Amino acid sequence: MKIIRIPEDMQQFSRETRRSGKRLGFVPTMGALHAGHLSLVKMARERSDCVVVSIFVNPLQFGPTEDFSKYPRTFERDCQLLEAEGVDTVFAPTVEMMYPLGATTTVEVAEISDRLDGVSRPGHFKGVTTVVSKLFNIVGPDFAFFGQKDAAQVAILRRMVRDLNVDLQIVVGPIVREADGLAMSSRNAYLSPEERKQALVLQRALARVQFLVGRGESDVKSLIDAGKQVVAEEPAAKLDYLEIVDPDTLEPVSALSSGALVAVAAWIGATRLIDNVLLP
Ligand code: PAJ
Repeated sequence: MKIIRIPEDMQQFSRETRRSGKRLGFVPTMGALHAGHLSLVKMARERSDCVVVSIFVNPLQFGPTEDFSKYPRTFERDCQLLEAEGVDTVFAPTVEMMYPLGATTTVEVAEISDRLDGVSRPGHFKGVTTVVSKLFNIVGPDFAFFGQKDAAQVAILRRMVRDLNVDLQIVVGPIVREADGLAMSSRNAYLSPEERKQALVLQRALARVQFLVGRGESDVKSLIDAGKQVVAEEPAAKLDYLEIVDPDTLEPVSALSSGALVAVAAWIGATRLIDNVLLP
């Protein structure tokens, strides 16, 4: 497995790969890899002849009081996992290589970036769309793989690819969960054993909404209130949002429709976790 650090070297590798007629699959990550990331790598392996995974903790998508400096960095282990999955190339640039002095260009998807996580994390999605644009230009993939775990990120990146005519196909993989239902996340490593149990409240809130929908409840406000009530009953949890939105525009739905996205974010202690479910 090749490890490339320099954007120009990555571009040259990609050029050669495409020239030889191979389909290139790309999985962007911030490392601290878990089975959720690896499920995307497996999808990429199935669909492409060459798989590139990027590992880059992107400072631009962290707010000033967020966890950029303490974000888990496990590069050696990540590389072992990726090698075992048959990944061809890891692209792991430094911050200076991605944002050299004087870099002032950003990519922003207006309006939709200010919804869901964009409310309590202003500028977060601008950081995501800027780095993902750069990564797309550096790696030049045919397919790019993202997880449904970050449903808002998926909607915003789909919009960006459409609006900017980016010549690739986005493929979305389902949420991978721990045995007890907690959505896998690199940030789960921050949780104490007690918080780890309390974190299940996100999943319970979504399950409550799904249960009520299954029983015929279709009033959006009642469903949201019922979900919020579940979170309120867990004293250790502080709700950020629980919303039912259109999965493409992230706008709140007024009437329940099939395929609506129920998304929740909450702090468990100092750790902010997210989860979501698409209604049938
Ligand atoms: P990161 O949080 O490392 O996630 C990388 C990819 O793995 C994302 O597409 C994310 O949705 C997916 N993923 C994370 N947990 C998952 C789970 N439990 N099940 C399925 N997929 C999961 O998302 C980012 O990094 C960054 O914003 C990035 C796109 C790399 C830009 O910096």
